[in-house]
Amino acid sequence: MKFFIDTANLKDIKKGISIGVVDGVTTNPSLMGQENITNHKSINEHYKKICEMIDGDVSVEVISNNYHDMISEGVLLSKIHKNIIVKVPMGLDGIKAIKFFTDNNIKTNCTLVFSVSQALLASKVGATYISPFIGRLDDIDNDGLNLIKDIKIAYSNYNVKTKILAASIRSGLHISKCSLIGVDCITSPLKHILSLFNHPLTDIGIKKFENDFNRYINK
Ligand code: E4P
Repeated sequence: MKFFIDTANLKDIKKGISIGVVDGVTTNPSLMGQENITNHKSINEHYKKICEMIDGDVSVEVISNNYHDMISEGVLLSKIHKNIIVKVPMGLDGIKAIKFFTDNNIKTNCTLVFSVSQALLASKVGATYISPFIGRLDDIDNDGLNLIKDIKIAYSNYNVKTKILAASIRSGLHISKCSLIGVDCITSPLKHILSLFNHPLTDIGIKKFENDFNRYINK
C-alpha cells in the first residue's frame, strides 16, 4: 500500500519523506490555503517545490468548476512537473474533463468520491486514482470504511485499473483498516502516519530492555 501525505506544508512533507515511508503527496485548495501563498504564480511555484522534493505522484487540484476551464487549468498544471496528477472533483464536468485528460495522457485523481456509483463513473473515463473520503462520511454517521470495502469489491469484479486512494483519513486505525481492505494507497496528514509507530507495549519493552541491561551488565 502506498502512503501519500495529505498536506501542502513543505516542512511536513520533508519530515514525512525523511522517515522513508512516504510515496507521494496530495494537496487540495483548503490545504493550499493554509500555506503562505498569495498569488497564482506562487501556487505553481509551490507545486513545483513539492514535486522536486519527492520522486512520486503529487496530486494538485483544479479550482475551476466547468469543463472548459478545468481542461485549460489541468493542462497548465500538468506542465509544471512530470510528477503532477491533476485532481478533478467528481461531477458531470469533472468526469468529462477526466475523459479529456485520459485521452491526452494526463494522469488524474477524481476527488470527492462518496459512493460506489461515483467510483464506477471515474473508472469508466480512465481516472488514474479515485479519492473516496472516509472521515467526511464518518462525520455524517455513515461508515467511510464500508464505502472503501464496497468500491474494492466493485473494482475487483471488473479488474478495474483505476487505483483506490483512500482519503480524509482521521486516524492510524483508518490506515491499518485500509490495508486489510487492500486499497492501493492512502493519503493522510503526517500526525496519523506518525501514530502508526505507537504501541504502549513497545514503549514498556524498550524501557525494560534498558533497565535490565543497566541492572545486570552495565553495573
Ligand atoms: C485528499 O485528497 C483530500 O483532499 C483530503 O484527504 C480531505 O481530507 P479532510 O476530509 O480531512 O479535509
